[in-house]
Amino acid sequence: MEGGKQLTLPLMLAVGTAVIGSLQFGYNTGVINAPQKVIETFYNETWLERYQEPISKTTITTLWSLSVAIFSVGGIIGSLSVGLFVNRFGRRNSMLMANVLAFIAAALMGFSKMTSSYEMLIIGRFVVGLYSGLSTGFVPMYVGEVAPTALRGALGTLHQLGIVVGILMAQIFGLDTIMGNATMWPFLLGFTFIPALLQCCLLPFCPESPRFLLINRNEENRAKSVMKKLRGTSDVSADMQEMKEESRQMMREKKVTILELFRSPLYRQPIIIAIMLQLSQQLSGINAVFYYSTAIFEKANVKQPVYATIGAGVVNTAFTVVSLFVVERAGRRSLHLLGLLGMAGSAILMTIALALLDQLEWMSYVSIVAIFAFVAFFEIGPGPIPWFIVAELFSQGPRPSAFAVAGFSNWTANFIVGMCFQYVQEVCGPYVFVIFTVLLLCFFVFTFFKVPETKGRTFDEISAGFRQTMAGAEKHSPEELNSLGADSQL
Ligand code: GLC
Repeated sequence: MEGGKQLTLPLMLAVGTAVIGSLQFGYNTGVINAPQKVIETFYNETWLERYQEPISKTTITTLWSLSVAIFSVGGIIGSLSVGLFVNRFGRRNSMLMANVLAFIAAALMGFSKMTSSYEMLIIGRFVVGLYSGLSTGFVPMYVGEVAPTALRGALGTLHQLGIVVGILMAQIFGLDTIMGNATMWPFLLGFTFIPALLQCCLLPFCPESPRFLLINRNEENRAKSVMKKLRGTSDVSADMQEMKEESRQMMREKKVTILELFRSPLYRQPIIIAIMLQLSQQLSGINAVFYYSTAIFEKANVKQPVYATIGAGVVNTAFTVVSLFVVERAGRRSLHLLGLLGMAGSAILMTIALALLDQLEWMSYVSIVAIFAFVAFFEIGPGPIPWFIVAELFSQGPRPSAFAVAGFSNWTANFIVGMCFQYVQEVCGPYVFVIFTVLLLCFFVFTFFKVPETKGRTFDEISAGFRQTMAGAEKHSPEELNSLGADSQL
């Protein structure tokens, strides 16, 4: 791997510890899927105990949907709050503080059965959603800021790897022979406590982001010594130089609020790209698979749907690893394009399989292949890239606000797919994946025309590229260009 010698132990510790937050996000995405029936039984029993009558079908459906979806509501709020923390407390301390939420959530969910309170479980899901929303900002930001340019994509992909490993762990632990049964499910949900504890023990040994120290705090000496540790060399002048250039650039900008991201022509293009990439990730339909795959496989007459779901989790993890190794060579743009196109093809295959199921029994196998391919292509590009590209598209000034907007778009789209998929499926039957195919092709066209390659370029070079495009498009006077710093090359 290019620049592999820069993968030092302190860098690995920093990134490895940060992505425990990603693992938590993935775990809580996947954990609610398998034990649905046993937890619904608990809701029913609690209801019976309280009101001396069984719960109605509508109420249980509402309570369950709420338990699932309130996680994304927490995510929306958490992701929007990223900017409140990272500049005030620093990146590392923000991650440390967020664990309070993980502990509270673990306690609420883990003790809900003992105290006969499904309200506690629902609030716990909301709180762990808050934590996950914060993580989807904190982790890629921290990782992007500590990583050397040549490894930024590969290390950035570790955020996604953390997520997918979390999902897979939840799928396996959720088997009824392990923790997905009537006695063990509180442990399944309370498990979130353990990664939180581990992260709290390790974070104090991780350095603060040197970019934060230098650019936000103006602590040059501390930034330099952290940089030396992370890079494993005493000559960090190139890194320091690059950060100072970014810092100089930032002096010229006012503090960038979310509103200004949209108002300023300087940021409009990158923020639209960031939002569209997040939407391409979620509206690809990936979580239709991760929330409802068991039900989808059941409809496709697959004999052991739970194992097919775990198979999807394994393929998901395997292809994230593939992406990790190719992202620095193939580049973000081409992998994203390939992923979107492959997903569109798999979605068509899935539609054919579902439509012909009644005539040809073996189509149920085709549906498994289609879902596995769908997931594999997702992880090649649309899974990992949107998360870490936000750090690349923005310089230090607008970065926190950009993460808030990107996270908000992602979580909102996630919520919409989670809430609507089953209803839309009822209306469209086997043709439900046609909607995703159309969306995927639209995102392909957008990426083809609008998304620049960011591989191997420093943060400063990337934003200079946008300044140049903007200057070209709006035909600014040479004085204006100068004041925007559009002198750097693309
Ligand atoms: C991405 C998405 C997440 C999804 C996961 C699947 O991280 O953000 O919503 O569940 O990929 O691997």
